[in-house]
Amino acid sequence: MKEFIEKMPKVELHMHVEGSMEAETLWELAHHNNYKIEYNSIEELKAAYKFNNLTEFIDMYMLGTRVIKSEQDLYDVCMTYFKKCVEQNIQHTEIHSDIRTYVDYGYPPEFVINALHGAFVDAKENYGITGGFMPCFIRHLGNDVAKEDLDLMLPFKDKILAIGLSAVEVGFPPSLFKDTFAKVHDAGIKVIAHAGEEAPADYIWSAINDINVDRIDHGIRCLDDEKLVEYLVETQLPLTVCPYSNVALKIFDDISQHTLPIMLEKGLNVSIHSDDPAHFNAYLTENIIGIAENTSVSKEGIIQMAKNAIKSSFADNSRKIELLNSLNQYVMDA
Ligand code: HPA
Ligand code: ZN
Repeated sequence: MKEFIEKMPKVELHMHVEGSMEAETLWELAHHNNYKIEYNSIEELKAAYKFNNLTEFIDMYMLGTRVIKSEQDLYDVCMTYFKKCVEQNIQHTEIHSDIRTYVDYGYPPEFVINALHGAFVDAKENYGITGGFMPCFIRHLGNDVAKEDLDLMLPFKDKILAIGLSAVEVGFPPSLFKDTFAKVHDAGIKVIAHAGEEAPADYIWSAINDINVDRIDHGIRCLDDEKLVEYLVETQLPLTVCPYSNVALKIFDDISQHTLPIMLEKGLNVSIHSDDPAHFNAYLTENIIGIAENTSVSKEGIIQMAKNAIKSSFADNSRKIELLNSLNQYVMDA
C-alpha cells in the first residue's frame, strides 16, 4: 500500500507555498539576505515549528515570508516544492499564497505573481507539472484590505487561477467579504475559502451562501451539521482536507482520530492535501499514507480521493482527462 501511494499520480489543491519552506531553507535565506532571526541554530528553528493552534502557526509562517527578499527567492522556494512534486509524482498542483504580506513589506503585487507564474512556466517545461497560483485575502486584516488587494491583483488576472480566503478564521466569517468576492466572480475568477477548519460549520454555510465558493479548504467541521452534509453531498462541492495540518493544529489528537473515513463514507467530495508540508512535517504522499495506515480508509477510498482531487481541480477538461487516464492506467498496472 505504501509503495502504491508513493508512486500513484497525484493532484494537490491545497498547499501554501511558504508552508513548504523547510527550516534549512528559511535559515539559509535569512543568512543570505542578512535578516536577523531570533534562533541561534537550525535545530532551534526546527524546534520552533510546533503549534497549538492556527494563530500560533500563522506567526511562525510569517517568519518564512520575512526572509524572502526577492522574486528569485520566492521562485526558488516554489521550485524546491516542484522538485518534491516530481519525487512524489504530483502532476498538477494549485498553490496558495498572498500578495498582501509582500505589499506590506514594500514590494509591488507583481513580486509574488511573477515569481510564482515564472515557477509554473518552468515547472511545466521541465517536469510537465501543471496548475496555478491562488492568492488569498488575509481574512484577519478585514474587507477593506481585501478590496485593495483585489484592485492590485485584477490587472494580473490572467496569471491567477482563483482567489481565496486564508489566515485566522475565527471572528472573520466569509460574509464580511461578500461584496469583494462578488467582484471576484464578476471578473470571472474562481473563488475558494478556508472554512470550517477551526471555526464552526456556520462558516462553511457562509462560504456557500455569502461568497458562492467553488471549493472549500478544509471544511471538516461540516460533520457537526446534518443539513450541511446533505447539501455538500448533493452538490459535490469539493472539500480539500489536510490531515496532518489538522493534527498539528490540535483539531484531532492523533491522525487515527481523523474523521476523513466518515466524510468519505457519507459521499462527500473529499480529497487529501498537505496545507503547509514543511511546518506540519508531511508532504502529500505522507498525508495519504498517514490516512491509509492509521484509519479505516481502504485502497478504494484512497483511489476515490485521488479521482476527487482531479475532478475538483481548476484544470481544463482535456488536462483532467489526461490526469484521470494516467491514474486509471496506474491503478490497472499496479
Ligand atoms: N490555514 C489558514 N491560513 C493559512 C494556512 C492554513 O493552514 N497556511 C497559511 N495560511
Ligand atoms: Zn490552508
